[in-house]
Amino acid sequence: MKSTPNILLGVTGSINIATIFLYISALQNDLRCRMHVMMTPAAQTFIPATTIMHSIDGDVFVDLSAKGDFKMPHVELTHWADAIVILPASANTVAKVANGFAQDIVSATLLCASSPVVMFPSMYIGMWQKPSVQRNIAQLRRDGYIVYPREQQEAPKYGMQDSEGKVNLNEVDPTGGSLPAPQAASAFVRRVLGQT
Ligand SMILES: Cc1cc2nc3c(=O)[nH]c(=O)nc-3n(C[C@H](O)[C@H](O)[C@H](O)COP(=O)(O)O)c2cc1C
Repeated sequence: MKSTPNILLGVTGSINIATIFLYISALQNDLRCRMHVMMTPAAQTFIPATTIMHSIDGDVFVDLSAKGDFKMPHVELTHWADAIVILPASANTVAKVANGFAQDIVSATLLCASSPVVMFPSMYIGMWQKPSVQRNIAQLRRDGYIVYPREQQEAPKYGMQDSEGKVNLNEVDPTGGSLPAPQAASAFVRRVLGQT
């Protein structure tokens, strides 16, 4: 495996995007990787692309338009990437990818992907447990996507969302109860890349 792998990070519209900089920093430090980021339109309603741009050495792709050396980013980024990491992966993106939709830069790129894809689903537990979401997750696994197993994740120390799905920003658990801690996420990606 390359000592400086190319990681393409796909960011989608989950509330846990609030913690994305912890994950970007863990991936960059632990993998010593080069990184480009792609964002769905929903992700950009949570965090502007310009904010992410300042924390990586690569570019942030917000749509399918040409950018820099990438004339057709959804095709060329997959050749550039040694691994594609989708974190956080919303239920909507999980559904799009499980069903072959290509309506934004993240889903279109995944439909072209030739490198390993690691997905970290992140959603309120009630959403995660819905049969439709579980069907989509099972389909992703059948299709060869690597989905971080939520059952192995630690229970949240305190709730980010209550039983009605309301977010209490005074009690933000950085994992939101659905993502592993940043170092655990980067260790998982390292194993996929064969670095450990
Ligand atoms: C405040 C807020 C928090 C949300 N949190 C989540 C979440 O944690 N997980 C999720 O799957 N969807 C969440 N959603 C819904 C997604 O943003 C919505 O389904 C969106 O269409 C996702 O689009 P994308 O998959 O293209 O990024 C949230 C929406 C809002 C407004």
